[in-house]
Amino acid sequence: MKSNKVSAKIPFHIAIIMDGNGRWAEKRSLLRKFGHRAGVRTLIKTVKYAFSLGVGIVTVYAFSTENRLRPKDEVDSLIDLIRKNFATTFGDLVKRGIRVRVLGERSFFPPDVVEIMDKVEEESKEGKTGIFNVALNYGGRAEIVRAAEKLSQSGKEFNEENFSRFLYTSDQPDPDIIIRTGGEKRLSNFLLYQSAYSELFFSDTLWPDFSMKELDSIISQYGERDRRYGKV
Ligand code: FPP
Repeated sequence: MKSNKVSAKIPFHIAIIMDGNGRWAEKRSLLRKFGHRAGVRTLIKTVKYAFSLGVGIVTVYAFSTENRLRPKDEVDSLIDLIRKNFATTFGDLVKRGIRVRVLGERSFFPPDVVEIMDKVEEESKEGKTGIFNVALNYGGRAEIVRAAEKLSQSGKEFNEENFSRFLYTSDQPDPDIIIRTGGEKRLSNFLLYQSAYSELFFSDTLWPDFSMKELDSIISQYGERDRRYGKV
């Protein structure tokens, strides 16, 4: 892979909002679904590269609860990409010892897709190389409400530690970095609870054009940021 590996402090958990696929396609007079297809190529490249650097967890926002409201054609093409990649490419990650987890309400997806998600999660559950979280039909507020409901049903004391156990990311540390490509500067309902102390990086690059050089640069900048967690 063409990139100078960074020597900076490597973040343990990187989360990514992969924005700009549609515009990337429109700029080329292509249907939006071709932007998502190109986005998957960048996604695979990025995930493999991040793990090769020593990153422990990569979380990507692949399908938000709001994305369900897009035209049926586009939703179908996203579901098709999810189906194909869980069945094939993600299997390759599993072979490398990556644990794949789905964050979100999967019952929205067709039964065959849910089955593939369950299978990949099950087959990868002993993976020790890293964790790849794919947020699918995910919304941060819905996740918080769900966790509150589950905590209440459990009868356990309401505190941050018990609460976070009921998030989709239950036993994982919060993201050190959240990257959003595509020029917008907001979190759009992504990891609302977990992002409390994440370092945010916004890039104008459209997701399919995101390069490993840019990831290196973000990691270098991260190494220079002073994370005080509210302390002096
Ligand atoms: C935002 O771009 C991106 C998405 C809504 C979907 C991202 C999904 C993928 C890269 C594929 C997921 C597939 C798997 C296998 C996990 P946009 O369409 O909002 O772009 P725009 O802002 O330019 O319109």
